[in-house]
Amino acid sequence: MKFQEDAKIVEKRIFNNYLYLSIETKNIANNALPGQFVNLRVNSGFDPFLRRPFSISDVEGDIIKLFVLIKGRGTNLLAEKREGDIVNIIGPLGNSFPIFEKESIFVAGGIGVAPFLFLARYVKSITLLFGIRDKSFLPDIKMFSDFKVILSSDDGSIGEKGTVLDLLVKEDFTRKVIYACGPNPLFRALNKIFLRCKNVEAYYSLENYMACGFGACKGCAIETINGNKLVCKDGPIFKWNEVLL
Ligand SMILES: Cc1cc2nc3c(=O)[nH]c(=O)nc-3n(C[C@H](O)[C@H](O)[C@H](O)COP(=O)(O)OP(=O)(O)OC[C@H]3O[C@@H](n4cnc5c(N)ncnc54)[C@H](O)[C@@H]3O)c2cc1C
Ligand code: FES
Repeated sequence: MKFQEDAKIVEKRIFNNYLYLSIETKNIANNALPGQFVNLRVNSGFDPFLRRPFSISDVEGDIIKLFVLIKGRGTNLLAEKREGDIVNIIGPLGNSFPIFEKESIFVAGGIGVAPFLFLARYVKSITLLFGIRDKSFLPDIKMFSDFKVILSSDDGSIGEKGTVLDLLVKEDFTRKVIYACGPNPLFRALNKIFLRCKNVEAYYSLENYMACGFGACKGCAIETINGNKLVCKDGPIFKWNEVLL
């Protein structure tokens, strides 16, 4: 079930290019599952017209947490909001990560790390492989202090020099469940590795452009081995070998 609410921002923090928001929204918080997202109106009017989708990064009581990379017009407007401001929000939307008893590896490309704090509440023995462009893209890493974090950066300015794929191939990943979130090139590169292995259990959380966020506009259709699917409604989580990237 999804809800549309005018919800209050109860906490806001900016760190580097990242915005951390805590939003009080009882119905969404109490019904959210890890991997789901909200579609948020960043302004009180209709400019910009389209809502912006963000993963539910964590839930505490009646509060959902969002973790946002400030990049374009919508996220810059959102970053101007103050504690006490009201935002119109629809959620929880989409499917959720499947949960297993096995050990987990989280593979995050940049802001793809956002859904993993919430997922971490449901799985055990987690290693987070976290790839960023350079150290200026490092979020507040203290938020991940409960699990093992291995960092990489493209330029080597922090963590290991290289990509998150270089980190993954050093892990015994075929014995674990892999949850990945990031841009499509990351998934395509992961597929190349997985196609060479047997028994890969991996799930991708896609970040396609969206409009309505709940299956009405058909604007987020993607090809899968089972025909066209909607990222907002059938996803955003898909099995690694289901989507045709
Ligand atoms: C399920 C999901 C979860 C996400 N979770 C997070 C998260 O937790 N944190 C986070 O920071 N980001 C997340 N994102 C990405 C986030 O939604 C975008 O970064 C955000 O919408 C950017 O808004 P902007 O206005 O600042 O950026 P801009 O790039 O200026 O604008 C984005 C807007 O422009 C439109 N647009 C731009 N280019 C195109 C194009 N080529 N085709 C179609 N439309 C286009 C889009 O519809 C979108 O509304 C998520 C995306 C999805 C789909
Ligand atoms: S965004 Fe409208 S159907 Fe998916």
